[in-house]
Amino acid sequence: MTDELLKWRTEFPILEKTVYLISHSLGAMPRATYESLHEYAEAWATRGVRAWAEGWWEMPVTLGNEVARIIGADEGSVAMHQNVSICQSLILSCFDPEPPRNKIVYSELNFPSVMYVYEAHARDGRLRIETVKSDDGITVPLERMLAAIDEETLLVPISHVLFKSAFLQDARAIIERAQSVGARVVLDTYQSAGAVPFSVKDLNVDFATGGSVKWLCGGPGAGYLYVRPDLQTLLEPRTTGWMAHESPFAFDSSMKYAPNITRFLHGSPSIPALYAARSGYRIINKIGVEAIRAKSIRQTTLLIELAEEAGFRVTSPHDPAQRGGTITIAAEHAAAMTKELIRRDFIVDYRPGAGLRVSPHFYTKDEELELIIREMKTIRETRAYAEHETANAAF
Ligand SMILES: Cc1ncc(COP(=O)(O)O)c(C=O)c1O
Repeated sequence: MTDELLKWRTEFPILEKTVYLISHSLGAMPRATYESLHEYAEAWATRGVRAWAEGWWEMPVTLGNEVARIIGADEGSVAMHQNVSICQSLILSCFDPEPPRNKIVYSELNFPSVMYVYEAHARDGRLRIETVKSDDGITVPLERMLAAIDEETLLVPISHVLFKSAFLQDARAIIERAQSVGARVVLDTYQSAGAVPFSVKDLNVDFATGGSVKWLCGGPGAGYLYVRPDLQTLLEPRTTGWMAHESPFAFDSSMKYAPNITRFLHGSPSIPALYAARSGYRIINKIGVEAIRAKSIRQTTLLIELAEEAGFRVTSPHDPAQRGGTITIAAEHAAAMTKELIRRDFIVDYRPGAGLRVSPHFYTKDEELELIIREMKTIRETRAYAEHETANAAF
């Protein structure tokens, strides 16, 4: 069988030196990112302040359009920000929680940073948080999630794919339930965009947010915020700034929100991060998420087989329809084993409760999956993990 996608390997320098299976955390850097960052420096060095008018000012939206293609959004509905946490704060700042509609519903397996944002805003009692429990630390029961969403619910900030276990939530069912009772959903697509095909438009979700660090191979500092076009002019974020003004260069002393996605910006954008992120999006858009997903399902299935044959326990869902691009493997001494794997240039990570997280991406060879499982067996048999026994997650 020929794997067409392997032709992309030469575009990712780190693949020459390591077995890189950590796209759920930091995707490999495309070679083209060197050029992109050089282009940024060149614009600054030679065009100076004129660079703002020659593309920089518009970049949070022009680059957002490239993300829009990946997440199935219309042009002009995605704004770039630094990260998911600020996007969640910005969304929340659009609302006036008034009892009884002041409830936030999310699962206890949400990404912690997202929960910190809502918890902080709940401290003065204006918001109430209902946390949906997981029975196994891996999945979230859909019925329990749906039952928690009611007429008192304001927002439902949930992960599409859970960071710890790669469980793929039924976003459509949750969105339909929320909208039927007048609540809005904030879908965190960090762990699904670029790995699992979906369309925010087709899902009719109110908001979506994610970042570029992981499956998009775009590096840190390039978070994105999708706001459904019909909502854009209805909302007035309090987390705001001059970029959100309808005419920022009028330097008006009072706010008049722009009539489009730019009203969801605030101050000056992080231009270098946006340049850095571009090359990853272009590669993902060239390959297409459908092709990435087809390969991912084949390789994650193979990885489960290899891991179980070697006597390891796979904790992520076995049904490919219920998981994203990561396989989690519970092993005794998993944290220490992860450290030893990294020392040997097998790059993976560890999360308490789930185990080792291993993620093939479009650039992964089948052989690399065999190699890592073989290495894990050797480490187990030789007890080479012992010297890292006090290890915890390092990244
Ligand atoms: C699902 C999910 N959401 C959010 C984040 C990160 O949030 P932020 O962009 O605020 O750092 C991560 C991982 O780092 C994640 O896996």
